[in-house]
Amino acid sequence: MSLSPQKPLNIVAVSGGLNNPSKTESLVQAILNELSEATPINVHFIKFSEIAHLLGGAIYRNQLPQRVQDDLAAVEAADALIVGTPVYRASFTGLFKHFFDFVEQTALVDVPVLLAASGGSDRHALVLEHQLRPLFSFFQAQTLPIGVYATDRDFTPEYTIHSELLRDRITLAIARALPILEWAPAKGQRANVIKEKSQQAAQNLGINKQIEQEDVLPSAAVPSLDAAEARLHHKKPKTQVA
Ligand SMILES: Cc1cc2nc3c(=O)[nH]c(=O)nc-3n(C[C@H](O)[C@H](O)[C@H](O)COP(=O)(O)O)c2cc1C
Repeated sequence: MSLSPQKPLNIVAVSGGLNNPSKTESLVQAILNELSEATPINVHFIKFSEIAHLLGGAIYRNQLPQRVQDDLAAVEAADALIVGTPVYRASFTGLFKHFFDFVEQTALVDVPVLLAASGGSDRHALVLEHQLRPLFSFFQAQTLPIGVYATDRDFTPEYTIHSELLRDRITLAIARALPILEWAPAKGQRANVIKEKSQQAAQNLGINKQIEQEDVLPSAAVPSLDAAEARLHHKKPKTQVA
């Protein structure tokens, strides 16, 4: 399957796996490999096996090492994300959440996000639906319909994937993702718009501080809430709507 000739998609992959080697990292890499078979991509791969120790002590974004600030800026500028985490205590890891707590809260509006997780048990497969999907729904991201869950049994002792069923699932996830990725918000245009927002965020943003939302993204075209409210309740909009 191949999309029409186009600029490569700007994909940011995040693996929350803390170990090295890491099953989560292998899983995310396998998803990236499958996607690259289907369409041109540029990849920025953020591996918690490399950055986890840099995250813990920071409560403000400008306390993070430059490397992690650059990773956050890459997440905010991505055309699409592929995110994977190991399951810890039936959820994503604390550090995975801590990283996304620093992401500017309007930066992922309408950004497609493919969800993945690796766990020790089949019984925690719904971590994709009950933990990861709500987190990215908070960001108003477009979580992709098919997520990928792997267990320890899907990997060889060297952490390559040996399960055909898991490979089929990855293929299905990418096949279902492609039509959505093709419309990934204003490919190539997000990066410039979001750069300024990331710079602002890097200045002083602690967890939970919001940047003004007015010029969100050309891509996401977030509707004016005032205008919507005015239509619903026949009120005069508070602000001028183009
Ligand atoms: C602290 C801790 C908690 C875990 N909790 C769960 C869990 O609740 N459910 C589960 O299925 N696996 C659990 N696991 C197993 C890991 O999710 C699994 O081995 C995962 O594939 C490890 O990924 P990695 O190789 O990328 O580090 C836990 C592992 C650790 C270290």
